[in-house]
Amino acid sequence: MNKLAIMGAMEEEIQPLLEYFDDVKVTEFANNKYYEVNLDGLDVVIAYSKIGKVFASLTATTMIEKFGCDTLLFSGVAGAVNSELKIGDLVIADKLCQHDLDITVFGHANGYVPGGDVFVKTSKDIRDIAKQVAKENNLKVLEGTIATGDQFVNSNERKDFIINTFNADALEMEGASVAVICDALDVPFFILRAISDSADMDANFDFDDFLHSSAKISADYVIKIAKALKNK
Ligand code: ADE
Repeated sequence: MNKLAIMGAMEEEIQPLLEYFDDVKVTEFANNKYYEVNLDGLDVVIAYSKIGKVFASLTATTMIEKFGCDTLLFSGVAGAVNSELKIGDLVIADKLCQHDLDITVFGHANGYVPGGDVFVKTSKDIRDIAKQVAKENNLKVLEGTIATGDQFVNSNERKDFIINTFNADALEMEGASVAVICDALDVPFFILRAISDSADMDANFDFDDFLHSSAKISADYVIKIAKALKNK
């Protein structure tokens, strides 16, 4: 690994990351800011994309193609769909899908378009390191499926669709698009989320209450993972 990208979607998701660094070089590109830092000798680029799949795709591509990042970690928050998951719990994606990608009227499966796959898998090597780090730090993590779509989900009906169709554990608004970009550009990647809400009728209130605390839980863990990757 030469240069690591760590991205989030919202400013609140990367703020706790930036707090680790005294020396930050800021570069503006394509209506966004990219923060270049050094983690114990490892060059790292940090950015938040803004919410949703399009902005996340732009940021992931920029970090790889313009800044030369060759490994990408995503840190942020998600809504729980697996009822075992509670606010603050950590989820590692082993695969991701786009729950709102729908050309089913032509006989295709939900989440599928020709030339693509319903699920994109994350790097097993990084997941293994992350699980080792979790073990060493006594952190409980669930490894599962994350479903992504351009909508904030706050209904049991939509949640049920996502569980029944994709058997997802958590949902958010960027991960699968980052997965598609990294997979296409052959960059190993890892998507981490801490639960901020349960994607139900209270989700918007819970999200507002727990965005900061859950984003910090995810950021603290992702920094530990970055350090472990560096030492590998
Ligand atoms: N990210 C965190 N909670 C979410 C929700 N309920 N829907 C979509 N993205 C989210």
